Parts: sequence; C-alpha cells; structure tokens
Amino acid sequence: MTDRYAVVGNPVAHSLSPEIHAAFARQTGQQIEYGKLLAPLDAFNSTVAQFRDAGGKGVNVTVPFKFAAFKFCDQWTSAAIDAQAVNTLDFRDGKIVGHNTDGAGLITDLERNLQLSIRDMRVLIMGAGGATCGIMQPLLDAHPESVVIANRTLEKAIKLVARFKKSGIKLSATSYDMLAGAQFDLVINATSAGLRDEMPPLPDGVFADGALAYDMVYGRPTPFMDFARTRGAQTADGLGMLVEQAAEAFWIWRGVRPEARPVIAHLRAHASGSEN
Ligand code: ATR
Repeated sequence: MTDRYAVVGNPVAHSLSPEIHAAFARQTGQQIEYGKLLAPLDAFNSTVAQFRDAGGKGVNVTVPFKFAAFKFCDQWTSAAIDAQAVNTLDFRDGKIVGHNTDGAGLITDLERNLQLSIRDMRVLIMGAGGATCGIMQPLLDAHPESVVIANRTLEKAIKLVARFKKSGIKLSATSYDMLAGAQFDLVINATSAGLRDEMPPLPDGVFADGALAYDMVYGRPTPFMDFARTRGAQTADGLGMLVEQAAEAFWIWRGVRPEARPVIAHLRAHASGSEN
C-alpha cells in the first residue's frame, strides 16, 4: 500500500503542502499520497488518531494546532522541545514522534536560498506567538550579534526572552514604540498582522543599510514588505521557509532529502495560497 501523509489544520483548504510533497515525491521517485485533513477546532487528537489508525504514516500540522500537536506526542526532538510546538508528526514503531522543522526551514531559506549570513547580525523579530517560538532556538544557533523581540503585548515577549536567555546571545524584549532609534540588519515579521493586511507599528529608521525584511506570511505582498521596500530594505516572503520546512519533514519521513529550490521557483511562478 502507498504510504499516506497529510497536512492537518483549520482552515486547511488553501494549503500548498500537498503540492509541495507531490513535487518532492516526483523528484525523488518516492511513492506517497499526501492529502489535507480539516480538523474541527476541538478535535485535533481524534482526527489525527483516526488517520493514523487507518494506516497514515505522518502529518504536518498547521495553524492553530501546533501546540496541541506537541501535547499529543509520545516522543519529541530537541527542536520540538525548544519550540514547545510541533509541525511534523512521524508515526514510527508504534510511537508518535514530534518534530519542529519551522526554524530549520527559516534558517535554510535565509542562509542558503537568500545567501544571508546571520552571524553577527542585529535581528529584530516582531511577534511573540507560535511562529516566533518555532524559530527562536535555530535563529540563536546561527549566532546573531543580538536578537530583539518586539510585541504588541510586551509581557509575551518578556516571557520568551526568559525562556531562551540561556543561549548566551544578547536577547531583549520591547514594545514597538521603544524601537525608535534602533537599527537592525534582519527584521522578521512573525506576527499574523499581514493576514489581515495590517502591520505592527514600526518606526521609519529601523532598517540598517542593506537590511533584509522577511515576512513569514507568503503568497502576496504584505503591508510590512511594502513598508520595508519603500524604506530601502530588501524583502522576502515566507514561501522559501514553507518549502524548506516541508523538505525537512520529507527527509524525516522518507530518509531522502529533496531539492527545495526548484519547487520554490515553480510555486513562485504558479501558485497562490496563504497557509502551510
Ligand atoms: P501564531 O501562532 O501564528 O504566531 P498567535 O500566537 O496568535 O499566532 O500570535 C500572533 C502574533 O501576532 C502575536 O505576537 C500578536 O501580538 P499579541 O501577542 O500582542 O496579540 C501579533 N499580532 C497580530 N496582529 C497584530 C497587529 N495588527 N499588530 C501587531 N502585532 C500583531
């Protein structure tokens, strides 16, 4: 029987993951089926359990279930524990193993696809929700000079800083109005503001010369990307991260590493979507 996988979310209809994994399967000659599972908001566990009991081998997890997925596992990788959130479940030897490939996907997109060296950069992350949790440790492992987390609700940024302060990298929390006068080489939008055509209230001078503005949202230009472009920054959306996190998941499941770049290029030319 062909091995079956799926992306679980709510909503899930616009997910590009089936297309991405189908492309990886063609590229690597792997026989898999990959579908979409819409889980009711209060029934993540039963939806996934049913899929597994019917022979499913693994799932990707998207909004809003990454924390629920973490609790659902029997075993966790260190990346999942760092994030306290899971985006990939691997059903193996009767166990549910939880992975988080979001951070690795972001770092690969930044460093390999966009040719950025994070080492010694001043990094600003906007947002202190699930998206930020997923990327914190891999970002710190890339040895930036400093990381500032800005959030509308300052309390949440302070809690994240406390969680990751062991890294030894200079790490601080701030509100947006306290950013006036500060400059960054890399500004990552990990808020959900762009999905509603909004952006966090960034001061004008926040981009250093040659800075990159990276929005984890993908599929269309966001107000943050427009703001950054008109202030001289380079911009990138989250499509590369989406495909790279999927490549990591494919490798976990299949033991074969697909090439993400041609898939990113194809999707950039042909697809539109808004969830992973
Ligand atoms: P996710 O799991 O996708 O990160 P989340 O946990 O709801 O979603 O977090 C969304 C993040 O976007 C939060 O940091 C949120 O700020 P608050 O913690 O203050 O709610 C941020 N966010 C959403 N809309 C925003 C907006 N219009 N301006 C600034 N920040 C916004």
